[in-house]
Formats: sequence, C-alpha cells, structure tokens
Amino acid sequence: MAQAMIRGLLETDFIVPQRVLVSNRSPGKLQKLTEQFGVTTSRSNEELVEQADIVIISVKPQDLLAAIEPISRAFLEGQIVICLAAGVRMETLEKLLPQCRIVRLMPNTPALIQRGLLGYLLNDDEDDALEGIVEDLFAPLGRVVKMADEEQFEAFMVACSSGTGFMFELMMYWQDWILEHGFDPEVAKAITIETFVGASLLAAESDQVSIEELQNRVASRKGVTAAGLQSMRELEIERALRISFEKAALRNSEIARELK
Ligand SMILES: NC(=O)c1ccc[n+]([C@@H]2O[C@H](COP(=O)([O-])OP(=O)(O)OC[C@H]3O[C@@H](n4cnc5c(N)ncnc54)[C@H](OP(=O)(O)O)[C@@H]3O)[C@@H](O)[C@H]2O)c1
Repeated sequence: MAQAMIRGLLETDFIVPQRVLVSNRSPGKLQKLTEQFGVTTSRSNEELVEQADIVIISVKPQDLLAAIEPISRAFLEGQIVICLAAGVRMETLEKLLPQCRIVRLMPNTPALIQRGLLGYLLNDDEDDALEGIVEDLFAPLGRVVKMADEEQFEAFMVACSSGTGFMFELMMYWQDWILEHGFDPEVAKAITIETFVGASLLAAESDQVSIEELQNRVASRKGVTAAGLQSMRELEIERALRISFEKAALRNSEIARELK
C-alpha cells in the first residue's frame, strides 16, 4: 500500500521524488523503492519523523505500537500523521501521539491503478487546512471521501476495502459458471470482468438514473433476468451478504480491542 501511495504522490505536480522520504525495516525493500521511484531513504523511522512535514504510517496494525511507541517523542507539535492501519482507532492514535494532527486513511487496492476509494477521518473535524491537504495529496489515487465519524469510517472500510475482496468473491462465482459452460479460462475471466465493468460504468454514466431503475430496465416482467432476480431474493442473498459485512465489522472491532 505504501508503494501505491508513493506512485500516486509522485503523479502530483507538487511532490518530487527527492522530497519523499521512506523507511522500512527490510533494507532490500528500501533499495528497490529507491531504484524504482528515485525516493530518498531514511536510516530509521526516527530520522524520518524528524525530517518529514507529513508522516504516513503504512505498517500492519499489529506492528503499529512497536513502530511508534519507542519514537513517539520525536514527533513534533502539530506534525501531520496519516495512519493506514485498519482497526487502530483514533483514540489509540491520539494517546500515542497527543501532539500531532492525526488522519486515519483507508484506501482500497484499486488505488494501485488510480481508481481507488480513500476514506479519511480527522482527529480535529474542523481542521479545514488539513482536509484540503489530504484531499489534494490523495486525489491522484482515486476518489477521496471524508468520514463524519469513526462509525462511518469502519462501515466504509468494510464496504470498500474489504468490499473489494468481496467483489472478487462474486466475480469468481460468475467465472466458475461461465467455465462450466465450456469457455476457455481467459475468455471466462474476460467475460466476467466485462460484465462487472460494463454494469459499473453504465451506472456511473447514468447519473440521473438510480441503480434500481437500471436493474428494472434489464429485467422485463416474467422474463429471464426477472426469474433469476426472484430466485436471488427468495434465497435471501442480501441477508447472506449483510451477515458477511457484519462479520467483517466484528473482526475489525476485535482487532481494535486487541490494539487498544
Ligand atoms: N493492502 C490493502 O488492501 C490495504 C487497504 C487499506 C489499508 N491497508 C493498511 O495499510 C497498512 C499496510 O498494509 P500492507 O498490505 O501494505 O502491508 P505490508 O505489505 O506488510 O507492508 C507493511 C510494511 O511495513 C514494514 N514494517 C513493519 N514494521 C515496521 C517498522 N517498525 N519499521 C519500518 N517498517 C516496518 C514491513 O516490513 P517487513 O517487510 O519487514 O515486514 C512492510 O514492508 C496496514 O495497516 C493495512 O491495514 C491495507
């Protein structure tokens, strides 16, 4: 995810590679990043924190405390810290870094191709200047959406970040059905992708039309699509999906409790 961020940031015209400082506990990774993007490397997290205006923390949630706690005093008063770790609540971050302006940021993996969704939450909701910085900084990676509170942030994470994984699960069901009917694997994959992309783009380009209306236009009464939709409703697919969303949200709360 950090690499996706770096790639996106370098697409803005206000950040040059030399001004992006990177640190990592694996020297091999740092070397690769320098070769690929021409960024500057730091010898330690502490050195990076001392030099950076904005610190983006992109370690796994379970690594966050070990990474930040020993160097928390190196962070400056008012320094901007953007944390990507899922499940690490604002309250925990504020306790760790009370002197900082903190942003929780949740990207999804389409950010890798600049088609991401990036939800963010500020510890000070009225920090308009920081809001502007976050929106400008991450716009090259996709659509940047401000969250009103932590509850929205968690819902966004389940629907959009985990949701990307859920969409791939659905795509595999489509692909399997097509494969079972004798198509080559590459064709089955391409047909699946085009079905999802086509439906999404049609919805995106029909901004005056609701998704429900677009569905009605596909499904004529007593027709083929209507029969399939009726079965989906009888089988309570929505209920099954909602349970999965709630399971993901529950796991997020468990991680948050473990890291508190
Ligand atoms: N991947 C996603 O789709 C996604 C989406 C939204 C948010 N996020 C969030 O983004 C964060 C990063 O996820 P990821 O998938 O990019 O993880 P990742 O591939 O494991 O990258 C994390 C990197 O942090 C390094 N690291 C760990 N502890 C460190 C320390 N103390 N000092 C310096 N470097 C350290 C790791 O080094 P090693 O290689 O040595 O372990 C690794 O290179 C997570 O908090 C995740 O919740 C990810």
